[in-house]
Amino acid sequence: MTPASEHLPLPPDFRTHVHEALKQWYADPGEGSTIGYLNLVASERNHGAVNIREAANRVLNKGLTALAMTNDAGANVLRLRFLDGQATFVVANRLNQSQPTVYRYQSQAIDQLAAVLAEMEAGVRGQRQTLQEARLEPASYLRLFGIDAQRDKLLDVLLDSAPPWIVSVDGMGGIGKTSLADATAREVIRRRHDGEVAWVSARQQRFDLGGAVWQVDQPALTSSALLEALTAQLLPGTPPFTTSDKAVSALRATFELRPTLVVVDNLETVTDVESLLPLLHRLSGPAKFLLTSRHSLFGEAGVFHMRVPELGEPDALSLVRLEAEQRNLPELVAASDAELRPIYRTVGGNPLALRLVVGQSHVHSLASVLADLQAARGTPVETLYTFIYRWAWDNLSEAPRRALLAMPLVTERGGSLDFVAQLSGLDPGALSDALAELVTLSLVDSRGSALDRRYTIHNLTRTFLLEQVIRWQ
Ligand SMILES: Nc1ncnc2c1ncn2[C@@H]1O[C@H](COP(=O)(O)OP(=O)(O)OP(=O)(O)O)[C@@H](O)[C@H]1O
Ligand SMILES: [Mg+2]
Repeated sequence: MTPASEHLPLPPDFRTHVHEALKQWYADPGEGSTIGYLNLVASERNHGAVNIREAANRVLNKGLTALAMTNDAGANVLRLRFLDGQATFVVANRLNQSQPTVYRYQSQAIDQLAAVLAEMEAGVRGQRQTLQEARLEPASYLRLFGIDAQRDKLLDVLLDSAPPWIVSVDGMGGIGKTSLADATAREVIRRRHDGEVAWVSARQQRFDLGGAVWQVDQPALTSSALLEALTAQLLPGTPPFTTSDKAVSALRATFELRPTLVVVDNLETVTDVESLLPLLHRLSGPAKFLLTSRHSLFGEAGVFHMRVPELGEPDALSLVRLEAEQRNLPELVAASDAELRPIYRTVGGNPLALRLVVGQSHVHSLASVLADLQAARGTPVETLYTFIYRWAWDNLSEAPRRALLAMPLVTERGGSLDFVAQLSGLDPGALSDALAELVTLSLVDSRGSALDRRYTIHNLTRTFLLEQVIRWQ
């Protein structure tokens, strides 16, 4: 696969495209523009240019203004020749130069204009990439193991402008669906500079600060909420649409202009998938939709299906070692494959379960963790999870328990220390210690930068808190 960070270069004949675009200044707008693929042009389209030609002309004009700062004479020649439509000999007379000199000025100025536009384009691409990445949730992983083949397969389907338009990634909780979708979406953003990526989580969270944790209201994603989320991301600043049909048409119009990938995460939380799927079918093509769900959509017409497999042993052990390094467990880091293999044999290749087990070895020796887990061995992984969580819970003291119980109220984007303090009623000092302990145990994820540290919990931890802990208290 191509290196992830590689910026796609402009076409080798970009200079010719710029020259042709200048010649097209007065041509029929129906011809489009030879520089129509630039993000700069798309951005002018979003800012009121009525067609690609007008957008391209605005871009050329801005390029000429920038060029005039370093080569005023050259920019002037280009304006006279192409924007004023004057023949070379007229320009030569006007500037008191020979025709060959004007040609030379022109040729140099086109080189420079192409360079100026390439630089402006690189700036816009960088901004677009940042903007699109901000729509994703902060990544929950440092490194993903063993997903290259899956990701490449998804990229093949998602970057191809042909059906299938809807792709579903499914598998049990914690197997890595969101992570795979995230890694794929990031790669699409990096590779495709004229496209759009939108991200919607079906598990919309509304919460009531006064309410108890298990009263959290979790309305499933409705058709209108999906349309609202998509228009907010892809058509910012547009006044709200009065009907769904209008929103669908407006979205489809942008999908025609720019290749778009929409990720809908956690589709299993939608109680009425049957009613959402027709909308996805209406919206998709040429836009691509990537869905993640714990429930398989296998057999659903027009949906390409992919199941996330468990990690194989080498990848599972690499994940254990990375996790041990992160959690500061030097003994585990140094352990041989033979010593680590029992973890894999007991837990299997489910990344979240592996992370949780490693976290637990902070409290118990690995041998006792594994001995206890033997009891759950051979049972469905769901049972294994309940087992791991129960055990983690029993070992927590009061403050971490209170902090953890507040966490389902935090959205997937994570909450700040102050926010969690407000939810849990713990003072920031005690909370900080409690969270540090929970992060060590992998029960809470800490994301973001040191300046903007955010805490969040995994889906399964949320389920466990909402469904199980209430019975254990
Ligand atoms: N291939 C992988 N390598 C390393 N870590 C992984 C991998 N896949 C997932 N993880 C980690 O395992 C955890 C679970 O992954 P993820 O949240 O993607 O699962 P999921 O299938 O979306 O779960 P759910 O159904 O509950 O939403 C995350 O913390 C993630 O960072
Ligand atoms: Mg998920």
